[in-house]
Amino acid sequence: MSDPTPPARPDQTQNSTPNSAPEFESRDPAAPAFWDERFERGFTPWDQAGVLPAFEAFATAHPDAAVLIPGCGNGWEARWLAERGRTVRAIDFAPQAVAHARAALGEHADVVEQADFYTYAPPFTPAWIFERAFLCALPKAQRADYARRMAELLAPGALLAGYFFIGETPKGPPFGIARAELDALLTPYFTLIDDQAVQGSLPVFEGRERWLTWRRNS
Ligand SMILES: C[S@@+](CC[C@H](N)C(=O)[O-])C[C@H]1O[C@@H](n2cnc3c(N)ncnc32)[C@H](O)[C@@H]1O
Repeated sequence: MSDPTPPARPDQTQNSTPNSAPEFESRDPAAPAFWDERFERGFTPWDQAGVLPAFEAFATAHPDAAVLIPGCGNGWEARWLAERGRTVRAIDFAPQAVAHARAALGEHADVVEQADFYTYAPPFTPAWIFERAFLCALPKAQRADYARRMAELLAPGALLAGYFFIGETPKGPPFGIARAELDALLTPYFTLIDDQAVQGSLPVFEGRERWLTWRRNS
């Protein structure tokens, strides 16, 4: 899949001053190497370093949900779930992300797998797929495939819920999506059942994140 969006400038995904922007070799977010390079160099301005209240509230309200986390990065939410005995699989196609997440998960490292979202078959039927900074990490040309794959992975009634980065951005990642475009993307497969403001967003997402819960249509 090609990316029609101009390559990301090295200062686009960070929140430090422009003068401190690192230079990167890899400019294609469709390639694992793009993310590997950033994890290797500790340049992860999207990383929450913990879980936010909306995630905790939703997870607490759905204690029996088997959860899939695509594009898990450092795996904070997977760790939170695994430590509470929840059924969870977290995947990432970048080996460095997987290595970091596995190290952080310690005795629960085996819930993290290196896999591509578009081909991965989870060992259970997820009741919930958690979204955070995954859709906005994908080149825009992949959006229709994202929606189709989410729909394939979830049975009728199951939930796609998490943080969505709203508002078109000229470049990325993160690639923000206009609200109307997001609705058009997901409503062929899903019904929106909850829409909340988000507390505690990182600077890179601040004011433009919503917690959205979508239920897979029958
Ligand atoms: C911006 S990071 C967000 C990580 C994590 N969700 C978080 O909130 O910190 C996006 C992640 O998605 C992963 N990713 C991108 N495309 C992927 C794909 N097709 N399959 C699996 N992981 C993918 C990248 O390797 C990267 O770790």
